[in-house]
Amino acid sequence: MKHLLTMSDVTPAEIERIFAITADLKAKYEAGLREPMLPGRVMALLFEKPSLRTRVSFEAGMVNLGGSAMFLGADVGWGNRESAADFGRVLSQYVDVIVCRAHAHTKVTDLADHCTCSVINGLTDYEHPCQALADLYTIRELIGRFAGQTLAYVGDCNNVARSLALGCGKVGLKLSIAAPKNYRFEPEFLELLKRETPQLQMTVTDDTAAAVKDAVAVYTDVWTSMGQEKESAKRCKDFAPYQVNEQLMAAAPKDCFFMHCLPAHRGEEVTDGVMDSPQSVVVQQAGNRMHVQKGVLAYLLGARSI
Ligand code: CP
Ligand code: NVA
Repeated sequence: MKHLLTMSDVTPAEIERIFAITADLKAKYEAGLREPMLPGRVMALLFEKPSLRTRVSFEAGMVNLGGSAMFLGADVGWGNRESAADFGRVLSQYVDVIVCRAHAHTKVTDLADHCTCSVINGLTDYEHPCQALADLYTIRELIGRFAGQTLAYVGDCNNVARSLALGCGKVGLKLSIAAPKNYRFEPEFLELLKRETPQLQMTVTDDTAAAVKDAVAVYTDVWTSMGQEKESAKRCKDFAPYQVNEQLMAAAPKDCFFMHCLPAHRGEEVTDGVMDSPQSVVVQQAGNRMHVQKGVLAYLLGARSI
């Protein structure tokens, strides 16, 4: 694996390897130790959209690993000052890895096509692979296994859902989706899913209670993703029956967890009561973004000590 642009870039064996490195680094981190596996390595961050978790967890994680990170503002002119080819070829000579967040997925793949260094997708309209890896790691941390378990995803079949679906297929987790008809995976993505992860067991329904009834975790994301703000009123109406609230959580098994990639739009896709309940693992999930990304960086950049 040279780049992490989509969950298609990572094999089941690589996921296991990344999780093993992550577990080791996380245990050391919690014991107050930092492992400088990537001394002198440099990360550049290019973000077209706002971010708390992705930006800060990558910057902090790289520093933990003994490297450094630089957040590049709009003035470097990604996509408007020079061609993607010139931009990528030049930036790759200065840094070892580029983490980027863009509206269009092709903007990130175009950049990667011209880079000699690694490129990591820090969210596009199409996928959010770093989120899915951290989510799967969190599920394993909570229940110790994937086989035979079901993740329920309630809401918009968006970037986060696409990466989760690919990830579930790769690790052997079943996926049960509840989504309105017009907000489900597009045929092209379903084709890709079938090709990439023929073993994925996935069901899609509009019955939210049925979707969560055997789930180990109920996952939701915002109804209006970044860049879709103009559609917000319509989306709030269309998704209203898909809110994850106390009543829906009562239809899930008692020990079921609640997950959300954050930021949450409280009162829309999820209630305060669910977000702040003992079942909610959203903070652990967000914390794991840093640990798992450290695993990704160590793996991708070939840290000598792993
Ligand atoms: N979950 C996530 O990617 O959060 P940010 O948008 O804050 O990075
Ligand atoms: N689907 C959301 C995820 C944010 C982390 C968005 O794209 O805005």
